[in-house]
Amino acid sequence: MLLPYADQLANLVVRLWDEHGREAESFPAVAEKALNELPPDTNLQMMEIVDWVLQTNEFPQQLDLAENFGQPPVTLFNNGDFNIDVYFWLENDTSVHQHAFSGAFTVMAGTSVNCVYEFEPQHVFDDRLTTGTLVFKKAEILRTGDCRRILSGSRDIHSVYHVDYPSISVIIRAPDLSSLPQLSYIPPCLAYADDPELDTPLELRRRQVLRMLRRIDHPDYVDRLTKTLVSAGPSELLAVMLENRDYFIGRRDELRSLLLTLKKTHGELIDRIIDAFKTLAKKTQIKELRSLIRDPDVRFFLALLQSLEHREPILKMTTQRYPDCDPVEQILDWTKDLSAIVQADALGVGISETGMTILRTALEGSAEDLAGQSLQPMHSATAVATRNEAAQLQKHSLFRPLFY
Ligand SMILES: [Fe+2]
Repeated sequence: MLLPYADQLANLVVRLWDEHGREAESFPAVAEKALNELPPDTNLQMMEIVDWVLQTNEFPQQLDLAENFGQPPVTLFNNGDFNIDVYFWLENDTSVHQHAFSGAFTVMAGTSVNCVYEFEPQHVFDDRLTTGTLVFKKAEILRTGDCRRILSGSRDIHSVYHVDYPSISVIIRAPDLSSLPQLSYIPPCLAYADDPELDTPLELRRRQVLRMLRRIDHPDYVDRLTKTLVSAGPSELLAVMLENRDYFIGRRDELRSLLLTLKKTHGELIDRIIDAFKTLAKKTQIKELRSLIRDPDVRFFLALLQSLEHREPILKMTTQRYPDCDPVEQILDWTKDLSAIVQADALGVGISETGMTILRTALEGSAEDLAGQSLQPMHSATAVATRNEAAQLQKHSLFRPLFY
């Protein structure tokens, strides 16, 4: 049997949608109204969902059994026209994406940072890969009970960073087949369909064979990988590079040689993939840090560092969450917490007292002081050390946004 809350919410959606003539365009408003009339944060407990999953014998058809999206996702209701899903979120934050469905979502527990984007396409390679510019539009903090509509396709591109451990969201969604394939984005420039079901059997087998060569440390792995990439179409090129990119960590010469070869065949697409992979490297670093951290404040700080590129919106969001605190002091406190929680190695840089002074200077917007001119006499050994540390922090993938 269905969870009583899901039954009640589904009946409400059916009634409201009937009142709108079951028009697809009205579904986001219907879903939003239903979630506002029967908010899960006041009508449903996390453990009710857990107990239902563990004990029920009647289960609606589930989406995403591989738990690619949510840890786990649970479909509470599914009648083929629309479904009601709940998502538990731990470390697995969502990428920038659009949707092949419309509806609405609400935060049932926790806090999230929602970032909204637009995409300006430049080159469409095929229906699975487009290069262009992903433009950041706004960021907002979503608190428990907040609800947002979801419009299918490129009208609604966003990423959601879940702060609390776990965060829980509930979504009501109706499929929109005209918006397939569902695209994900890698800032600053790639839109791609990250869906293994779109791969041909040959593409899947090629990837599996390469995986096998890599796992057995075969001496010809890089040679065969290179040949596969040279002859691959654009979508397959990206998919194979995504899967194999971590092999090249610490192998700069091999990577340079591979990219030079690929550039001869694939031209500027390789430059765009390199730009996108720089974003992924930062994302991986932050994801590793987030897996070590349970403190929601520090997780919130990491969400800001990952999603925002400039100091001003980071300060603004900090003030939104903690209106009674000085945002500069708050960020410096979080940085100290971060340094205390994780080893300097994990951060890739130790935050000394000098480093904290540099960050304070950056956050206060005194860019001209960053090279240490006004912090120390120009030619002293301390000034040189300060300049070096400032340069290191300014380039650091994690702290860079605080300097601009
Ligand atoms: Fe989404």
